[in-house]
Amino acid sequence: ATPQREVFATRGAFIFAAIGSAVGLGNIWRFPYITYDNGGGAFLIPYLVALLTAGIPLLFFDYAMGHRSRGSAPLAFRMASKVTEPIGWFQTGIAFVIGIYYAAIIAWAGCYMFFSLNQAWGDDAAGFFTGSFLKAGDPGVSFEFVPGVLIPVIIVWIVTLGILLAGVQNGIARFSKIFIPLLVILFLALVVRALFLPGATEGLNALFTPDFAALSDPAVWIAAYGQIFFSLSIAFGIMITYASYLKKKTNLTGSGLVVGFSNSAFEILAGIGVFAALGFMAAAQGSQVSEVADSGIGLAFMAFPTLISEMPGGGIFGFVFFACLVFAGLTSLISIVQVPIQAVREKFRLSNRTSILVIGGAMAIISILLMTTITGLYVLDTMDAWANNIGIVGAAVVGLIAVGWFARKLPVLRDHLNAISSFKVGWFWMIILGGVTTVVLAYMLISQIITYSTKGYEDYPMDIIGVFGWGMIGLLIVLAIVLTLIKWPKKTLDEAEASI
Ligand code: PHE
Ligand code: NA
Repeated sequence: ATPQREVFATRGAFIFAAIGSAVGLGNIWRFPYITYDNGGGAFLIPYLVALLTAGIPLLFFDYAMGHRSRGSAPLAFRMASKVTEPIGWFQTGIAFVIGIYYAAIIAWAGCYMFFSLNQAWGDDAAGFFTGSFLKAGDPGVSFEFVPGVLIPVIIVWIVTLGILLAGVQNGIARFSKIFIPLLVILFLALVVRALFLPGATEGLNALFTPDFAALSDPAVWIAAYGQIFFSLSIAFGIMITYASYLKKKTNLTGSGLVVGFSNSAFEILAGIGVFAALGFMAAAQGSQVSEVADSGIGLAFMAFPTLISEMPGGGIFGFVFFACLVFAGLTSLISIVQVPIQAVREKFRLSNRTSILVIGGAMAIISILLMTTITGLYVLDTMDAWANNIGIVGAAVVGLIAVGWFARKLPVLRDHLNAISSFKVGWFWMIILGGVTTVVLAYMLISQIITYSTKGYEDYPMDIIGVFGWGMIGLLIVLAIVLTLIKWPKKTLDEAEASI
């Protein structure tokens, strides 16, 4: 079969798909606790600075890369310069890894929709999560499966690959067009409900009361950049891939602004809803918001269930809350899985279906093997930390240095954007990307590498960190080089050349 390049039928279809990718678990559970941990209201300053100086400019960068060459991440980097192709493969590999564990979190949320109805966790939500539900054993490596997790993870993969098989327009775009509006309506209802709970104001005060001293702490700024990156799905190859399906004449920067600001609006809305609810829980337990606010996975799967039990009508509230996590997560997961599917498809000139079955199938199998055992939780946590804090940041900084400094392609990308877009970018965009953003990212990367190598992570044993943290990153680097050495089909390169 001759592979044919797929397209988004309209700009609206693309915007929905891009918002679908951006709005995910990161908005609902990550943003609220990151903000809370990093100075509350004052965090909004570094957050906005990061959005404007790194988030939106990098979003434009990804769009320009993907749209200019009409290619997946490896092809887009290959068209920037021969030597930068491994960066595209590395990003593709990171997407592969993230998809593997992201699917598991969605599966948990799916289970919790139903657990909410009768508060299956009883009066020990934390013990239920790690104990009865995940049956988490010692943090070592094991192949003892947990059936209660295995089946939901399989279902998530069937749904995801089903949507992808329907194609870019009829699958990805259509699914996002239905589920993103639904998500917004359901989530607004939750936020309004939460705001009427007694104690809600206390929660909002806890979230928004600014601690300006936090602004002098570099860690707070790093957290802001990290959040923006994860939240906008940039430097994962996702936005490169999605932009490659756009028609030739598309307003790229205008779309980017819509996507960027919608994502942040949703995030702030989630912060309000989550903290209003935590304020209620603190009031009900006669404690402080700081005592009930948990961070990380615990917020959604330990603190929220407790709250659901305490709240009048909590069963329905919980069902809808976890449904929101599932919808937000699925529209993001399809975008992640599409990255390696498109990349492999182009390099080996496979049909869409073959690539989905081979690459998507491989991801599904690895996900099932790693995430549904009694050590899945630790593996997931480690992969998440290394993929995001080292992988993504590393890919972004190396990508900017390679494309910006060595290949000197920023002016070309600028011209590409300006030729078709309403919002023009100029020297400011190039200086911000090639200068400030590159430096901040390099600093983030180096300090993260130092922290992980000297302090380890969460007291996890060395075999877990060595294999699923450092080992995973090392393997991705090797694979990126090997895949680069394989020759491109001449036709693919010619097509990309013609598109430029
Ligand atoms: N941007 C998504 C969120 O906020 C997360 C995500 C990460 C999506 C990586 C795709 C890839 O949750
Ligand atoms: Na997001």
